[in-house]
Amino acid sequence: MVPGNGTGPKTVADLPGIGPATVERLKQNGYGELMALAVASPSELVESCELGEPMAQKIIDAARQAVDVGRQAISRITLSSKALDELLGGGLESQAITEMAAEFGSGKTQIAHQACVNVQLPRERGGLGAQALYIDTENTFRPERIAQMSQNLGLDPEAVLAKIAVARAYNSSHQMLLVEKARELAKTRPIRLLVVDSLTSHFRAEFVGRETLANRQAKLNTHIHDLLRFADQQNAAVLVTNQVAARPDIMFGDPNRPIGGHIVAHGSTYRVYLRKGKGTKRVARLFDSPHLPEAEVVFTVDEKGVHD
Ligand code: GTP
Ligand code: MG
Repeated sequence: MVPGNGTGPKTVADLPGIGPATVERLKQNGYGELMALAVASPSELVESCELGEPMAQKIIDAARQAVDVGRQAISRITLSSKALDELLGGGLESQAITEMAAEFGSGKTQIAHQACVNVQLPRERGGLGAQALYIDTENTFRPERIAQMSQNLGLDPEAVLAKIAVARAYNSSHQMLLVEKARELAKTRPIRLLVVDSLTSHFRAEFVGRETLANRQAKLNTHIHDLLRFADQQNAAVLVTNQVAARPDIMFGDPNRPIGGHIVAHGSTYRVYLRKGKGTKRVARLFDSPHLPEAEVVFTVDEKGVHD
């Protein structure tokens, strides 16, 4: 975060109308920085810091105003396909979550691998010259795929692999915990891409049955909120995958709706629905985007990786 310029608040203590005791309580609960407050929800502050709802709202509003002044420009990561980049308004966007929803074998994991390589590209080649963190819930991260994709871009595979931190998530709680660890890791490594592949598989496996649905959605909501916070704080792109339920007998609601329902829909800034085309062709459709028109593009996923 770039601190606000001029006379605006630069630290939590500078916020109008809060005393030293409150500042201390906020700090103790992990809200020591303006950005942490700016992306917090009022209920979260009420609960963890024993503040009244109006006070919590007032603090958050003031923090948002303060960080807006010094907000970093949004950056983008190419996905190696002009068509796919254009669909997303120029590539994977920072300070946002992009969701890739599709049936199994559609290329979600391949795109995630490609993004981990591409974030390392220099800016003139569509990257951010930065590093990636891959939260792997299905044990599908493959170093040899990264090596292939790196070589294809003329990059040193070993060097590229060294700049991808892979964290295996064993269950949904662990997965949520890893986002906290991500924040720690980002203090020592320039993490500008966070992948969660898959966002929903653990949640789906653990919360079975209609009676646990509300609980699952609440947890997912918190998780997505944490991811958005990471995206904001690090000016990072967050890419999540989501398998589309094709088995209506074991899933809920519309079998062709991505799992997670409206919770995922509200948290994701860009939602891309992928489907298989002929051979190595894939069709990507953007839906539910607040800023961009719904559109459909065709790209390729093969041994070289993602391309047009
Ligand atoms: P689930 O995780 O099962 O939901 O699928 P996914 O959408 O993540 O699919 P994934 O990205 O694993 O796509 C696998 C597909 O990528 C294969 O079916 C192939 O069509 C395609 N692909 C093309 N070339 C390669 C390659 O060299 N290696 C791999 N692993 N996949 C390739
Ligand atoms: Mg996959």
